[in-house]
Amino acid sequence: MAPAAPAADVQGARAGLLRVGVTSCADQNEPQPVWDAALAMQPDYFVFAGDNVYASDPPATQARLRAAYDALGAKPGFQRLRQAVPHLAVWDDHDYGQNDGGAGWELAQVAKDEFLRFWRVPQADPRRQRAGVYHAQMIAVGERRVQVIGLDTRWFRSSLKPTDQRGATGKERYLPDADPAKTMLGAAQWRWLEERLATPADAHLIVSSIQCVVEGHGWERWGNLPLERERLFSTIRASGAHGVVVVSGDRHVGGIYRHAGPELRYPLWEMTSSGATKAWSPANEPGPNRVGPLVTVKHHGIVSFDFIAGEVKLSLLDLGNRVMQEQAIPLAQLRAG
Ligand SMILES: [Fe+2]
Repeated sequence: MAPAAPAADVQGARAGLLRVGVTSCADQNEPQPVWDAALAMQPDYFVFAGDNVYASDPPATQARLRAAYDALGAKPGFQRLRQAVPHLAVWDDHDYGQNDGGAGWELAQVAKDEFLRFWRVPQADPRRQRAGVYHAQMIAVGERRVQVIGLDTRWFRSSLKPTDQRGATGKERYLPDADPAKTMLGAAQWRWLEERLATPADAHLIVSSIQCVVEGHGWERWGNLPLERERLFSTIRASGAHGVVVVSGDRHVGGIYRHAGPELRYPLWEMTSSGATKAWSPANEPGPNRVGPLVTVKHHGIVSFDFIAGEVKLSLLDLGNRVMQEQAIPLAQLRAG
């Protein structure tokens, strides 16, 4: 007899298909047709991948954070989506309250209080008992399981090394810093991530507010701390987890990325969906790991786990739900062994 599938936090509505919507970078002071576009694609689950509101203009205050969340919460499209679709949120710098912020941000706890309040995090939720906002949910798709693993890339993150040539291609804001004392996730979150990846599932969707696989720019990304990026790859490899895929935000552009190498058992794919209301139209990056062009119009993303077709599909759609970029990956190519 096959072992029982792990208990699920969320019951998917369909037997062989799980459609996960993904957005980030939603300025509450701008129109947000993105929510109705996203809802029209009938997602089974939704990921708010950070910069879900913009409340980082100094002076950041609790009132400013509260007002930003109130403005988002008042949007009818957002209300419909949050009501209809189970979801997980992480934050990025603009909902953390400090542009490019990390550990040591004086309003971190205030920002967390507002985050927990707005996202209606239950009293018994582990996020209320530990530092940061990292959290995971297991989703049932019939007998299959997909785990969504939301990382906190802000609360614990060490300071970054400023660029010596602001704005120059490849070193716009930061330079890689291989200081082994520096951390992206902090010790407790690293241990938690190892545990999550060791939990049996058919696929794992890692949510990282900042880009991970990407190379070729000097904005915030895991490559600012290259030893931590290598640790993420080696943690995935050592876990033996199948079907690991990353989604990210932050950049005001969309893209699909792929990284392969001896530090991984199989290629790591990443979809950046970062244009709910932001579109950085002049963006132009060499992007050695990128597959296809950047998406420089407002957009949202969908990750479709199709266990009948045996594939995961990464899709970036404009606000009229036209496909801007898409990549299907056979799940058989994402097997740890
Ligand atoms: Fe950001």
